[in-house]
Amino acid sequence: MDITFLLNGETVALRGVDPTATLLDWLRGPRGLTGTKEGCNEGDCGACTVMVADDDGAKALNACILFLPQLHGKAVRTVEGISGPEGQLHPVQQAMIDHHGSQCGFCTPGFVVSMATAHLNGDTGHDDALAGNLCRCTGYAPIVRAAEAAADAPVPDWMRDEAALAAAEESPRNAPETADELAALYAAQPDATLVAGATDVGLWVTKQMRALGPVIFLNRCRDLQGIEETDAGLRIGAGVTMDRVLVAMRDRHPGYAEMIRRYGSAQVRAAATIGGNIANGSPIGDNPPALIALGASLHLRHGDTRRDLPIEDFFLDYGKQDRAPGEFVEAVTIPAQPDRLRVYKLSKRFDQDISAVCGAFRITLENDVVTDARIAFGGMAGIPKRAAHVEAAITGRPWDEATLAAADEAWAHDFQPMSDMRASAAYRLATARNMLRRAWLEDQGVAANVLEVRA
Ligand SMILES: Cc1cc2nc3c(=O)[nH]c(=O)nc-3n(C[C@H](O)[C@H](O)[C@H](O)COP(=O)(O)OP(=O)(O)OC[C@H]3O[C@@H](n4cnc5c(N)ncnc54)[C@H](O)[C@@H]3O)c2cc1C
Ligand code: FES
Ligand code: FES
Repeated sequence: MDITFLLNGETVALRGVDPTATLLDWLRGPRGLTGTKEGCNEGDCGACTVMVADDDGAKALNACILFLPQLHGKAVRTVEGISGPEGQLHPVQQAMIDHHGSQCGFCTPGFVVSMATAHLNGDTGHDDALAGNLCRCTGYAPIVRAAEAAADAPVPDWMRDEAALAAAEESPRNAPETADELAALYAAQPDATLVAGATDVGLWVTKQMRALGPVIFLNRCRDLQGIEETDAGLRIGAGVTMDRVLVAMRDRHPGYAEMIRRYGSAQVRAAATIGGNIANGSPIGDNPPALIALGASLHLRHGDTRRDLPIEDFFLDYGKQDRAPGEFVEAVTIPAQPDRLRVYKLSKRFDQDISAVCGAFRITLENDVVTDARIAFGGMAGIPKRAAHVEAAITGRPWDEATLAAADEAWAHDFQPMSDMRASAAYRLATARNMLRRAWLEDQGVAANVLEVRA
């Protein structure tokens, strides 16, 4: 493939690139920019963080799971481009020195790029912005102090990359640019691998060493990236990244937004799409339980043929979804919901971790009687799944402790979870049950309710 992008302010045009070559390998290899480090090579540690800007703004992304064609028409800034052309330090670099934010220094370039991106965006939620950068010797306090100290400093001139827009305009077409083009291409080439954010697909290449064969990149299809109010509810395009889903959910469903705040890291949320998270069919994907509880509809498309289905019907069995060859996820619609959605993510680590269990609860009450219940879980079965027996056991009953007890038997009918490194089967069942209790306690105003989403 042929691609054009800006690297630290200079235009780079590459011809005939391997579509699954990663930015990190290219930077450290042929380009010789070794400031960007390789730690995990799977999106977890942030040592490879680079800043990628387009007309939607600047984001910190993990270069190890970014394929070169995803950069077409964008502006990339590595740690070498964070300091000025005359070697001037960026305010976050100076603050890291002043506050002793670096010891061995291996993590430092990644931290500096994440901090400079947050600084450029005026983002002062330092803990969230840095949750995807791991440091094993300095510790986070000095680093966060450095980020705080630099927050009010003006953005250096060299960080404003207006040329990004020009590069985007000049770059030649090299991938589908609309859903129509994608539909035609994929229908003609149904064995191709679709690549959206590559936060799953990237690991197939870097960890499983898979040769993917033909790939189709979705990231230039702007019409898959819209969020719009429709008569049926809020329609979210398959290409909408999780950082934007978080913002869209903040006022509508704060519990969902709070869960997304713990979805991967800033770098992962800026790349991962909601469509990829649904289409991969993972039993521990974090969106499906919430979307099932909200009664969302999935919009699928093959060529010019579209069909809609309740999202829960998409997940047929472990690794099997109701999706034909050449068919793709175009969007998902969340109906307007007056009822509060509660979403609880349980993982071994609070930030940047995959769920052991993720439960979503939408319980409708009239005069304190449950008139409707939609409860769905990830991590409890081979697919994201509704707790149909539990729902039936509580519906039509007063929303009280006796009803929770009456549902006790139902859990084992709904779920026979597995034991793995994240949790044992017994623990999963116990925590799922406790999540329903938590939903009830929160309705009584008893438990601490973690519904605030930090900006
Ligand atoms: C460090 C790290 C942390 C993570 N943390 C979480 C987490 O907390 N919670 C969570 O749920 N997941 C997490 N993930 C997994 C991953 O981020 C999500 O599954 C993500 O949403 C996938 O989206 P993507 O756009 O990156 O998909 P891609 O990797 O591009 O694609 C994933 C799959 O979906 C297919 N696909 C993509 N778009 C479409 C479409 N429109 N139609 C049909 N098929 C499509 C691809 O062909 C592929 O099979 C994490 C991943 C990493 C690397
Ligand atoms: S090398 Fe660890 S996130 Fe990229
Ligand atoms: S300074 Fe050594 S890992 Fe952060």
